[in-house]
Amino acid sequence: MATALQRVKGTRDLLPPETAVWSAVESRARAVFSRYGYGEIRTPILEPTELFVRSIGEATDVVGKEMYTFADRKGRSVTLRPENTASVVRAAIEEGLVGQPGPHKLFYIGPQFRYERPQKGRYRQFHQIGAELLGDPGPWTDVELLAMLVAFLRELGFTSPKVLLNTLGDAPSRLAWSGALADYLRPFRDQLGEDSRHRLEINPLRILDTKLPHERLLLDGAPTLDDFLSDASREHFAGLRAGLERLGIEYAIEPRLVRGLDYYTHTVFEIVATGLGAQNALCGGGRYDRLVEDLGGPPTPSLGFAIGEDRLLDVLPESFRSSVATAPPVLVVGAGGTPTLDLLEIVESLRAAGEFAELGGRTLKAAFARADRLGCQYAVVCGPDELAAGEVTVRDLRSREQRRVLRDELVATLRNG
Ligand code: HAM
Repeated sequence: MATALQRVKGTRDLLPPETAVWSAVESRARAVFSRYGYGEIRTPILEPTELFVRSIGEATDVVGKEMYTFADRKGRSVTLRPENTASVVRAAIEEGLVGQPGPHKLFYIGPQFRYERPQKGRYRQFHQIGAELLGDPGPWTDVELLAMLVAFLRELGFTSPKVLLNTLGDAPSRLAWSGALADYLRPFRDQLGEDSRHRLEINPLRILDTKLPHERLLLDGAPTLDDFLSDASREHFAGLRAGLERLGIEYAIEPRLVRGLDYYTHTVFEIVATGLGAQNALCGGGRYDRLVEDLGGPPTPSLGFAIGEDRLLDVLPESFRSSVATAPPVLVVGAGGTPTLDLLEIVESLRAAGEFAELGGRTLKAAFARADRLGCQYAVVCGPDELAAGEVTVRDLRSREQRRVLRDELVATLRNG
């Protein structure tokens, strides 16, 4: 026997019936997002490597360690997208969207790729449901975007999604804060772990993300952004908070929330979920007012979020899951050697009328056992007698009643009982 092949490490096969739940979640996202005026964008999975280097940032883990990057046959460096925001911005510039009156509201659903160490909730191919709003400085659009995110999660049955919120200020505020943080930490350099020592040189703010208890203790005395925030940033953040409060959106300020991608300015947020273990971030996002310009477009303040769909499915409330169960089929069964083709013809006529129908089993016994397993309500039995008379027997598997009807009346009988 030939050796069976295995999927690439960190990727997954998704099979029925779980895929039906994925589809239902995605349909709900489409429905909610379109109510807020968002249209779907589909960008290529493959992009020029430079796009991510210039947007996510060279000093980030994503660009530094996690990208699937390779040379194509002509030696050009291409990358499987590790996230979708950069691609959306590239497309919006390339397709001439930005520059036209906005805001432009776009959502996406699709696979992303990061070469991370796989564990529960962390894959090398994972999926995101995300939205981007290009061309509005906020803060009301920040409020609206978060309202949409929370509305979507509520419709999936999450009762009280809580947004963890922070501001990174504008670029000058952030630069001043980052410098002060580095100055504060440098005397403690020897006490820092290897990761943080590296970050101290290239991206000090990321040290705030540390999970090491002794580093967290050190950070308790560190300067906070609050000392460096410009008036404009302060106003933006205050507006956002007032808006969230007015709309009854629960949030908590999380001063250490800095996010792992370099393009953020002002608002950043995450939603975490219990039950996910160490990889508990269900969703992340924020404002990126400079990114469109940095990628060669006109000034276009923007923001967005992405939900990790794999993680979302892991903690999906049972109420939504159980609402997805598909109706069991009507089983069409032969008796006394009815030719399969005759049965198949009946099955096809039911399907053409919009019913779920399948061929039963080889014997009545096998068919009824299968109907039981699938939870079917009806079986349609067709023996030689029925066949000759242009009729079928409809059997209600729950009440065990049955009656013969003309083939032409079959669909109406199934629908009306
Ligand atoms: P991110 O925080 O890197 O942000 O990813 C968003 C979400 O994707 C995470 O909260 C997590 O649920 C999921 N995720 C990330 N990596 C993995 C993985 N290896 N396995 C499973 N799930 C994962 C972004 O990607 C930004 N583009 C979000 C954004 C949109 N910001 C502005 N607009």
